[in-house]
Amino acid sequence: MQLDLPKWFDLHTHFRQGPAVPAYIQAHIDMGCAGVLAMPNTKPPIARVTGEPDAESWTIERYLNELKANGADVFEQVIVPLYLTRNTTPAMIADGAESGLLRACKYYPPHGTTNSEHGVPMKEFLDGDILRAMEENNLVLCIHGEQHALPGEDYLAANRNAEAIFYRETMPRLLEAHPNLRIVCEHITTAEAARFVRKAPDRVGATITPQHLLYTLGHLIQGLKYHLYCLPVVKFDDDRDFLRDAATSAGQSKFFAGTDSAPHTTKATECGCAAGCFTGGCAPQLYAMAFEESRIDLSSKSGRESFERFLCLNGPAFYGFPASTERFGLERSPCKTEVLETADGNVTPLPSGLNLDLTWSLR
Ligand code: NCD
Ligand code: ZN
Repeated sequence: MQLDLPKWFDLHTHFRQGPAVPAYIQAHIDMGCAGVLAMPNTKPPIARVTGEPDAESWTIERYLNELKANGADVFEQVIVPLYLTRNTTPAMIADGAESGLLRACKYYPPHGTTNSEHGVPMKEFLDGDILRAMEENNLVLCIHGEQHALPGEDYLAANRNAEAIFYRETMPRLLEAHPNLRIVCEHITTAEAARFVRKAPDRVGATITPQHLLYTLGHLIQGLKYHLYCLPVVKFDDDRDFLRDAATSAGQSKFFAGTDSAPHTTKATECGCAAGCFTGGCAPQLYAMAFEESRIDLSSKSGRESFERFLCLNGPAFYGFPASTERFGLERSPCKTEVLETADGNVTPLPSGLNLDLTWSLR
């Protein structure tokens, strides 16, 4: 079986800074990716729009130039969201939007994930000038939706977790306080988040990663497969069912690809594990596998259409740019993934890290 598709968009990825950047960008180009939203949790973070970068923060302007000089100039779209910190101002938002450099902002729960220590709790933004400036300028708010600073037993339990709490308690308040704000619920992992997005108005969309469509906490724990450790962490099979339904349902326009591909040259350390799964080079293949696991027949017209919506069409429509007119191909044949060698060290892609092969390949 073969699929001929428009090139797709990865609306949540991490290209980092430094000597490995060209390898990460090339891995995305190689998998038929037409454009990306490259996350701002670099070191230092992308926390201003223009001006001279310094030790505390880089600017969107500088990071875009850096990415383009390292291969991203071939992409049809490169969006870099502004990292919302205590130093973000409404003027930064208004001026940035006017310049065209600023198209989205990113909310990180403080200390909730890799390099998120500059984040500010959502309750401090609610009903405030920053989000109002975003509404007025039609910018997208990308949300890492987890309640921060919970004790371990509340962070992840059988009947509650940080994401479910955030979607139950904080998201309704955000929608009410900012009725015109466009929101992407990033890398959702739970039934609660999927249900929330389905019921929300059309200004709310969501990205889903391949790993959250394919795997559960059991896959992570069985052998402590740390290459599958990312945040928000993979959840349970009933959560995965809700994500699969959301991603694959016919005609849906809210859910789209955002791999959260997050390369780490060192995953396991003396005192823990870096959060982030690397899926550069293999994400569309993993998404095709996930659609098949969700009992979607990709050889049927309806199956192919729902895959194309999720991977190639819904993301551009939500962000307001055209889908790609270029094509790429996938075929149903087994394939091994290779470790990516970079100038910063090697990165293990998720399937290799799980000792698994792909059942789909690039053509
Ligand atoms: C991401 C990273 O490594 O930058 N890690 C992850 O587990 N997803 C950060 C993020 O998007 O949360
Ligand atoms: Zn991410």
